[in-house]
Amino acid sequence: MRFRMYDLIEKKKHKKALTEEEIREMITCYTAGEIPDYQMSAMLMAIWYSGMTDEETGWLTMAMAESGEQLDLSGIPGTKLDKHSTGGIGDKTTLVLGPLMAELGVPTAKMSGRGLGFTGGTVDKLESIPGLKSEFTEEEFIRLVRTVGFVDAAQTKELAPADKLLYALRDVTATVDSIPLIASSIMSKKLAAGADRIVLDVKCGSGAFMQDAASAKELARQMIRIGDLTGRKVTAVISDMNQPLGTAVGNSIEVQEAVAVLSGAGETRLVTLCTELAVEMLQLSDQARPYREDARAVVRKILAEGLALNRFREYVREAGGDPAALDRTELDAKYRKEVFMDREGYLASCNNSEVGLVSVMLGAGRSKKGESIDFEAGIRICKRLGEYISKDEPIAILYTNREEVLPEAAHRLTAAYTVSEEKPEVAPVVYEILR
Ligand code: URA
Repeated sequence: MRFRMYDLIEKKKHKKALTEEEIREMITCYTAGEIPDYQMSAMLMAIWYSGMTDEETGWLTMAMAESGEQLDLSGIPGTKLDKHSTGGIGDKTTLVLGPLMAELGVPTAKMSGRGLGFTGGTVDKLESIPGLKSEFTEEEFIRLVRTVGFVDAAQTKELAPADKLLYALRDVTATVDSIPLIASSIMSKKLAAGADRIVLDVKCGSGAFMQDAASAKELARQMIRIGDLTGRKVTAVISDMNQPLGTAVGNSIEVQEAVAVLSGAGETRLVTLCTELAVEMLQLSDQARPYREDARAVVRKILAEGLALNRFREYVREAGGDPAALDRTELDAKYRKEVFMDREGYLASCNNSEVGLVSVMLGAGRSKKGESIDFEAGIRICKRLGEYISKDEPIAILYTNREEVLPEAAHRLTAAYTVSEEKPEVAPVVYEILR
């Protein structure tokens, strides 16, 4: 290392900006194992307290993106789009957007994650389809985009390895919730995955990293700025995560809900978010319409007429899965329990990360990396915030193969919601779009 790590920590501790050279050297040496975790932990905490300038965040992002393999998508004609969600409960928009955008002639090449903690992951949801593969060689990845029009792959180990190491360190040093660190972590993987343009779904609320609109907006702003600095156009949709998205939380159950949306049905807020994300993707693509309203009309038509469902079937078949799984409407879990509130009134608030944790208890997620999950476990959400509920109407139905967790899961789920006599104001699903 050409610099003393001690001096860099000291500099950041005193809120001074690091240079591009210092940041690059630090990331290269840390990835090579030449900087000990205790010094990098001190640096992360200094960044947590002192923040970073936009330039520093941009250099950090590029250094992490260049720390490993970078996909070259130039073999796919036209502008390639990627979409990324900062993570949430019941977020199956990616399952809808791949086929939908392909039907619109917009290729998407996406790498997704697995669920961890209270948030679900697209790769787990897809792998609930029997036989479906999510690890591909670069040739297979490109072939799927060229033939089906989209791909949704598990992130490879070689992609942005610096982020992988830093994320693991942040996880145990209470430094995950730093906006420049989150922005650079997400964007480094997006840059390495090679898409030209990116639509970000920045979640905000009790089931998201960013709990309030101001922090979500700042995260979005920083990621758009990284896009500017690295020559990628980025649009950010700030969306609500104060209650689960749609009516399903889990894996098979979320695939079923995505199929419902692709068939022209689906819960209103979920359909609205899918539509708005698709409009933003379309407007960033080579197929942009002169007016946003035209773009919205064409997206709505494809969804309403169920025109993209066949693309999803084709993808499942091409990726080695069984397309018949897309016709399922029930879960194969042994136990099912309806959950009721003990008073009548309006469903007023939801501690959404608790809903995510209940789904983990049921078996639908993992609390430690590498744990296996039960694809048939999950939660069907029957009531939305703002709806009036009586004591004999379930707010949700739990599905699991672990009978012993049901009483505690039901208790935690009801405790996650509050009921009020007054009709509450409910946040819209889309707060703001930053371009
Ligand atoms: N998702 C990421 O990839 N990185 C973060 O730091 C937070 C969410």
